[in-house]
Amino acid sequence: MTILVTGGAGFIGSNFVLDWLAGSDEPVVNLDALTYAGNRANLASLDGDARHIFVHGDICDRDLIDRLLAQHRPRAIVHFAAESHVDRSIHGPGEFMRTNVTGTFTLLEAARGYWGALEGDDKAAFRFHHVSTDEVYGSLKPTDPPFAETNAYEPNSPYSASKAASDHLVRAWHHTYGLPVVTTNCSNNYGPYHFPEKLIPLIIVNALAGKPLPVYGDGQQVRDWLYVKDHCAAIREVLARGRLGETYNIGGWNEKPNIDIVRTVCALLDEMKPDAAGPYERLITYVKDRPGHDRRYAIDARKIERELGWKPAETFDTGIRKTVRWYLDNQPWVQDVLSGGYRDWVSKQYGPEATAA
Ligand code: NAD
Ligand code: DAU
Repeated sequence: MTILVTGGAGFIGSNFVLDWLAGSDEPVVNLDALTYAGNRANLASLDGDARHIFVHGDICDRDLIDRLLAQHRPRAIVHFAAESHVDRSIHGPGEFMRTNVTGTFTLLEAARGYWGALEGDDKAAFRFHHVSTDEVYGSLKPTDPPFAETNAYEPNSPYSASKAASDHLVRAWHHTYGLPVVTTNCSNNYGPYHFPEKLIPLIIVNALAGKPLPVYGDGQQVRDWLYVKDHCAAIREVLARGRLGETYNIGGWNEKPNIDIVRTVCALLDEMKPDAAGPYERLITYVKDRPGHDRRYAIDARKIERELGWKPAETFDTGIRKTVRWYLDNQPWVQDVLSGGYRDWVSKQYGPEATAA
């Protein structure tokens, strides 16, 4: 048996592939376009491992997907590939529509053709697992209950709108064609291999470089943080035992304002790598807010807990400590990522002065 993973060189996808092959000998075909967010170095520990078949390609390439399905006969597709950064979607939404909407459509059509031709047990066992986000539900007020699977979709950014569109396509392919799908909507992940355009790794790498720590607006926006390996474990459960056509919200019951996250990272760095110039908090800098910035996300994870018995293994305290340690211990990975392309993004988003050494 084999599974096909898309986007397996990105942050969550690479953690998923590494964890999968640490716990199973079932091979993974890993299809990734290696955009700025995809990094073969995340998978370096699998070099020479015959269970990992890496394919450099695009999920919009129907011929390629048809060929991969025919050649490898996967029992499941786990679909991570996406443009994933909200700020980039504000600067340039086109690529988000192409990959997240057209790419998911292309994958669904290829999966429909492949699954339609399967027979017997193979047909019954096949799964299309769509990995999505809590951002499709929009923004919560301070006293609102957390997002349940029954919440209305109210996406507010080009990114979340493109993910909402992809969720709707997946739902429709199940209802209309019977494609055996499951969808998971997860909250903010953090952990190893997180690209430093996102809040937590950005704060770590900027602090270590003595650069300003940019906090958007008043820093009181709330996110619900989940350690990436807990997300990967939840996906494995849903893939194995999730009910067809259902969606499952995944979260860590860890609602925290951004400024608290930044202060926590600073305190851990003060402990693990003190700076002679003083506490890292001195670098906190409030900057212009993100346009349309969602105020609060929070996940009600009771459905996956009740039906599948999944619970996060990490608390925020243990997960963030591991994460800061990982960045300190993996400086070659960090320095490799902080390349020319990354500097261009930092200059575009935070101004040319932010790239000064
Ligand atoms: P990421 O940006 O780190 O990685 C995306 C990967 O997809 C990269 O390896 C990239 O090369 C690949 N990719 C992009 N376009 C492609 C294309 N056209 N064809 C093939 N591969 C392509 O993203 P991530 O943070 O790992 O997120 C993975 C998935 O999880 C996404 O679908 C995202 O919406 C979802 N998600 C992310 C979070 C989070 O906190 N990061 C939370 C919930 C859901
Ligand atoms: O909720 C799940 C989503 O979480 C995923 O679907 C997305 O793919 C993922 O990128 C993430 O989206 P966010 O926009 O919440 O993550 P980000 O790390 O970009 O920002 C987290 C919060 O921190 C958000 O309120 C914006 C704020 N922020 C972010 C950056 C990059 C800052 O204050 N300063 C920054 O420099």
